[in-house]
Amino acid sequence: MEHFKNPSNMGEMKDPDVTSKVGNPACGDVMRIYLKVGKRDGEKYIKDIKFKTFGCASAIATSSVTTEMAMGKTLEEAESIEEKEISEELGGLPKIKMHCSSLSANGLHEAIYQYKKKEGLDISEDLKKKHKIAQKTLERTKEMRRKHGLDEE
Ligand code: FES
Repeated sequence: MEHFKNPSNMGEMKDPDVTSKVGNPACGDVMRIYLKVGKRDGEKYIKDIKFKTFGCASAIATSSVTTEMAMGKTLEEAESIEEKEISEELGGLPKIKMHCSSLSANGLHEAIYQYKKKEGLDISEDLKKKHKIAQKTLERTKEMRRKHGLDEE
């Protein structure tokens, strides 16, 4: 509830290195992640991260905690953050709300994918697979939103 009422790192980032957009076709919710990447001891790390989520209370809480978990981590460490860990960090989510934590994990993974692609860095097979799924689910989310007369987010 605290992460929903007072979310960390919420809002748009001015001048991000990269942004991602992901969606959840089950509910039509959409999330954006903004990343600033720095270099420390020869490794790229998340210097700053922000989010904008059009979604339910769980989606906002999971977005907030995801940005806290990713802040300061190397790209590889952040890439390995999965929905189960995110929900555990929040103290657990009801089963019916587990898909909300996948939205923020997908947003984070997609932002890292976009950054690595932009910079010509190696992209793991796992991250490529996650990117393909994120693209497909975003398309399905857009269709779902159109079908229900919702604006493009
Ligand atoms: Fe859509 Fe939670 S109901 S992300």
